[in-house]
Amino acid sequence: MGNIFLTFFSRRWTLAIIVCLAVFFLVDMTTRYNARMGILTYKIKWEPPFKHHIRIGENSSETVGEGMNQSTITLPIDKTRQTTPGTATSSQSQQGLKKLELNKTVHLIRYELHKPVNQTTTTTTTTKTALETVAKETAPPKKWENSTIPGIKSMDTDLSLPPPVPVRADSKEPILHYSQKRDYPLLISHDEKCGSSKKLSDMKLSNFDYENDVFLLLVVKSACALKSRRDAIRVTWGNEDWAKENLHVNVRRVFLLGACQDEKLQGTLIAEDRKYNDILQWDFFDSFRNLTLKDCLFLQWITRNCQNVPYIFKGDDDVFVNVKNIVQHLKDLPLEKRSELFVGSVLNGSPRILIPSWKYYVSYNLYPDKFYPPYVSGGGFVMSTPLAVKLFQASLFRRIIPIDDAFLGILLKMIGVAPKNDRGFKSWGMKKTDPCRMAKIKTFHKMLPEQLIKTWKDFIHLDISTCSDETNDVLNTQHK
Ligand SMILES: *[C@@H]1O[C@H](CO)[C@@H](O)[C@H](O)[C@H]1NC(C)=O
Ligand SMILES: *[C@@H]1O[C@H](CO)[C@@H](O)[C@H](O)[C@H]1NC(C)=O
Ligand SMILES: *[C@@H]1O[C@H](CO)[C@@H](O)[C@H](O)[C@H]1NC(C)=O
Ligand SMILES: *[C@@H]1O[C@H](CO)[C@@H](O)[C@H](O)[C@H]1NC(C)=O
Ligand SMILES: *[C@@H]1O[C@H](CO)[C@@H](O)[C@H](O)[C@H]1NC(C)=O
Ligand SMILES: *[C@@H]1O[C@H](CO)[C@@H](O)[C@H](O)[C@H]1NC(C)=O
Repeated sequence: MGNIFLTFFSRRWTLAIIVCLAVFFLVDMTTRYNARMGILTYKIKWEPPFKHHIRIGENSSETVGEGMNQSTITLPIDKTRQTTPGTATSSQSQQGLKKLELNKTVHLIRYELHKPVNQTTTTTTTTKTALETVAKETAPPKKWENSTIPGIKSMDTDLSLPPPVPVRADSKEPILHYSQKRDYPLLISHDEKCGSSKKLSDMKLSNFDYENDVFLLLVVKSACALKSRRDAIRVTWGNEDWAKENLHVNVRRVFLLGACQDEKLQGTLIAEDRKYNDILQWDFFDSFRNLTLKDCLFLQWITRNCQNVPYIFKGDDDVFVNVKNIVQHLKDLPLEKRSELFVGSVLNGSPRILIPSWKYYVSYNLYPDKFYPPYVSGGGFVMSTPLAVKLFQASLFRRIIPIDDAFLGILLKMIGVAPKNDRGFKSWGMKKTDPCRMAKIKTFHKMLPEQLIKTWKDFIHLDISTCSDETNDVLNTQHK
């Protein structure tokens, strides 16, 4: 995990000899201090059963970190000043004191680990020796190693989203404020959406129960005011009953929303959800530049609630989706290709936009490279759930950038997976939308409600034998 901080903060690390003294009990704590930012990053490891609630600061009830057995906490340095020594008090919690000397100022950090109240485990007490770390500004960034992403090998579904990450102070590019906070509460949820709570590891696709289990989750980015688009999707490609009758698989549909801007809309949305049970809503400002936040929260939700569903389609609320072709494609996949599937319309070599007034602007502080790794257009794509879980975990170690699909590309690169291009995913550019062409593709962007309903009707009533070969051209050209 130290590697990650080097990757994050490596450029111009002015550091700082960190002297770490007196590590108590079961806790192993390392710290890194970024003088320019006045930010101290701790990595704390501890042993079960002490697994929740790390509190730093005297009498603080603010939980700054939690996790299975390690956590990383980033705090402004002045938060550490008003701390006093702590002592181990009871068998229910462990606390300790850490002394950190920076420029002759001594900072004391008190931490507490609380054990679940009624767990009884005997633990041995160990005292770790002093630890000294020196990092230089010129130190080359350490290589990313996927084995250093905690949790990817052993899943921790309770993993929390990290505290806000500050922007880098060392760039000459303009910095626009872009919040890194990502733990927003759910306002409307359906934790039971994917059926039983069994984990994917319990299930083999070779004997998948198509009758009872959910095969595909259809996930649509939406916004409060766009009910007409949601309604169109509900009666067309998002129609769960149609899929059951015609494709013989269970699909489930959810819409992802942020907060509504007025109470009346919120009331309508709640009523809409009562009727259809397909809204997931979080309490954040729903905007274009917050779409990545929506993705992060959604990936967290999937990790917690839907690991028993093998595949996820994710797209905009103005696409046509040929669910039939997508389901067929997924059913035909060889089993060994299942867990790393990420397929859509791939964009290669997209540059980061450097002009602050542009919609797609991303500053160096958020993403330092000139080009993004390959990513798929966010209009519509399919991924496997095990991959979505890995993406969620990788997301915890990246600053979020305002471009949601490029962000997923960055995460894919982190975990060493290349997105696969499929010409059936039409982002835009296809001129004719006759049913014969629609029968050959997988998605088509964009289509507004009325046109979607009409196109869908034509599509489901199509007699494919009436189509000429000419319409095959639709898959022979790459549209971006
Ligand atoms: C923290 O709690 C102790 C004991 O209750 C008290 O003596 C001390 O003043 C408190 N410190 C602060 C900063 O509130
Ligand atoms: C704690 O984390 C280490 C990796 O740092 C891992 O090997 C170990 O299995 C974890 N223990 C538990 C109980 O999660
Ligand atoms: C520590 O001292 C160095 C050099 O004197 C200075 O550049 C740096 O900002 C100081 N750090 C803090 C936290 O005051
Ligand atoms: C232990 O905790 C769990 C959940 O926190 C609770 O349901 C259970 O009753 C507790 N058991 C005892 C013996 O207190
Ligand atoms: C994203 O949502 C948060 C929480 O509502 C808000 O503070 C922030 O300004 C939003 N960011 C953008 C770019 O809209
Ligand atoms: C780690 O990533 C490399 C590519 O960067 C890949 O070849 C390797 O299989 C990955 N290892 C694991 C355990 O995923």
